[in-house]
Amino acid sequence: MSTLIAPSILAADFANLQRDIEMLNTSEADWFHIDIMDGVFVPNISFGMPVLKAIKKYATKPLDVHLMIINPDQYIETFAELGSEVVTVHYEACDHLHRTVQKIKSCDMKAGVALNPHTPVNALESIIQNIDVVCIMSVNPGFGGQSFIEETYSKVKALKVMIEKKDCSTLIEIDGGVTNKNAKQLIDAGADVLVAGSYVFGNENPIKIITVLKNI
Ligand code: DX5
Ligand code: ZN
Repeated sequence: MSTLIAPSILAADFANLQRDIEMLNTSEADWFHIDIMDGVFVPNISFGMPVLKAIKKYATKPLDVHLMIINPDQYIETFAELGSEVVTVHYEACDHLHRTVQKIKSCDMKAGVALNPHTPVNALESIIQNIDVVCIMSVNPGFGGQSFIEETYSKVKALKVMIEKKDCSTLIEIDGGVTNKNAKQLIDAGADVLVAGSYVFGNENPIKIITVLKNI
């Protein structure tokens, strides 16, 4: 499988959101990565349901919704109704992660679990076979445009070993500070999905950058 590229809408021009979404529709991007922040789980607030609804109206690719919020369970049905394909919750925000993952799947969505930089991958050992996507945070969640944390490579490798040992098909997604400088090493370590925000939208030709990432 070729690497999936998920541009992060957080770095788009919100005053020209329809334009940026239509641009991504024509690109080689695979998913739209949507960052929902509540100002409690992370020290920033991004946007919520009305904006997601507007994105869905124009997006022709799956919506990969990354919930950086406390108590995600109470919104899972709403995110399903809004047309999300993947819903990712944070390991650190879920007291009953197994129940949360089952709830996402019962709404016919792919279940993702994100790990903060300080959370070891072996925290998922007992549940990995139930998870569709593990999102390894390669920055501290809350903001775009931060520097990539180098320890991510060893986490990706350890997670890949766990996934292969359990013979499951869980995808490994990397979120934060992804550029052409670390993409190859991430893919070699076992990454399946690369999220990229500022690297894509900070370039004058985002379509070209997505093609670069897609073909690394
Ligand atoms: C960070 C978000 C990321 C962010 C990535 O909390 O989860 O998805 O948008 O942005 P870059 O690629 O700029 O680090
Ligand atoms: Zn994200």
